[in-house]
Amino acid sequence: MTQTDEIIERERRFLLPTYNRYPIALDRGKGVFLYDREGNRYLDFVAGLGVNALGHAHPRVVKVIREQAARAIHFSNLYYNEYQGRLAERLCQLSGLNRAFFSNSGTEAIEGSIKLARLAGHRAGGEAKSQLVALEGSYHGRTFGAMSLTGQDKYRKGFEPLLENVKFVPRNDLEALRAAIDDRTCAIILEPIFGEGGIYECSTEFLRECRALADRHRAALIFDEIQCGLGRAGTIFAFQAFGVTPDIVAIAKPIAAGLPLGAFLAREEFASAISAGQHGTTFGGGPLACRVALEYLAIVDEEKLLENVMRVGAYLQEQLKTLAARHPAVREVRGRGLIQGLQLAIPARPIVEEALAEGVLFNSTQDSVLRFLPPFLLQEKHVDKGMRVLKKLLRKKKK
Ligand SMILES: Cc1ncc(COP(=O)(O)O)c(C=O)c1O
Repeated sequence: MTQTDEIIERERRFLLPTYNRYPIALDRGKGVFLYDREGNRYLDFVAGLGVNALGHAHPRVVKVIREQAARAIHFSNLYYNEYQGRLAERLCQLSGLNRAFFSNSGTEAIEGSIKLARLAGHRAGGEAKSQLVALEGSYHGRTFGAMSLTGQDKYRKGFEPLLENVKFVPRNDLEALRAAIDDRTCAIILEPIFGEGGIYECSTEFLRECRALADRHRAALIFDEIQCGLGRAGTIFAFQAFGVTPDIVAIAKPIAAGLPLGAFLAREEFASAISAGQHGTTFGGGPLACRVALEYLAIVDEEKLLENVMRVGAYLQEQLKTLAARHPAVREVRGRGLIQGLQLAIPARPIVEEALAEGVLFNSTQDSVLRFLPPFLLQEKHVDKGMRVLKKLLRKKKK
């Protein structure tokens, strides 16, 4: 039995069977590469599902974690710590929004966002102003609130009854959007670029209409940028690329370079609806996670990583389009920056599995979409390696 077999067997016996993992056990990483327990190296196009934007073992992240861990990891939200306020200030400067709340995950950032929108809605229009509008095909997380806003049956099935008062509209359908929103709406929630849903973008026209309708009906426009935000779309907030500013934005994944941290940021008009005791968390906003998040934002800025995301993202897209033109199994290329998807006419998971033996980590979603969420450090030569492997595997499928 190899070490990997032992690890797999132990999990099989003692974990809830919620994950359909790939048969490798990862051990360590450096930059855009990961190494498994058997010493095999993998080029990483997954980045821990969009978390490891700075790759693995970034020296500045390692240093700041070491330093802060030796001082304090956690105090609780009973007391002040230097870093929570500083991180909130930085995120407000970058987003143009006014206040932050820190959670431990993306899902919790969504929960907090809808709680805030409900409070603001009730303040503006009484209890009746509690309707939520979300998009078909969306993904917002696994708790009851977030799951109730997720427009995909496979995540909801078996858990009913879910939150009431949620209406779903198709992405980019202006008419359906207009029909769904009225004075009882307290929030419209959407991902500007769908992640789990298969890398589909909302059109600027659709986002503008959401903005106009939210204003007209005094509803909160909430953007879920948990997957597409914090640099992955080439701008620090994806909404900056579309030119439409939300009232509330939820972020998570890369913010603390792999430590669990999420946040939602809100405009004062909505933020002022909440008061002490109405929301909280034990872990969220601790000194270690917040200090690392400040370092994350500093590294993205100082290492000019957004420029890299734009340049290498454009190169990746060009290469994917060339591939699409040559391979009948490829239908479409979608996305931007380092959040891109390749729509296949065949199942994507076998390609992800076969790529392991070639030393590349890809990811699939929605059965037939290959999804690329690599670290922001990715270079053209890494794209070339990924494309060589993909070409080889697609060629095999033709036979
Ligand atoms: C767009 C989006 N929203 C919410 C979530 C949930 O975040 P978490 O898994 O950190 O709870 C995810 C996770 O993939 C996501 O991609």
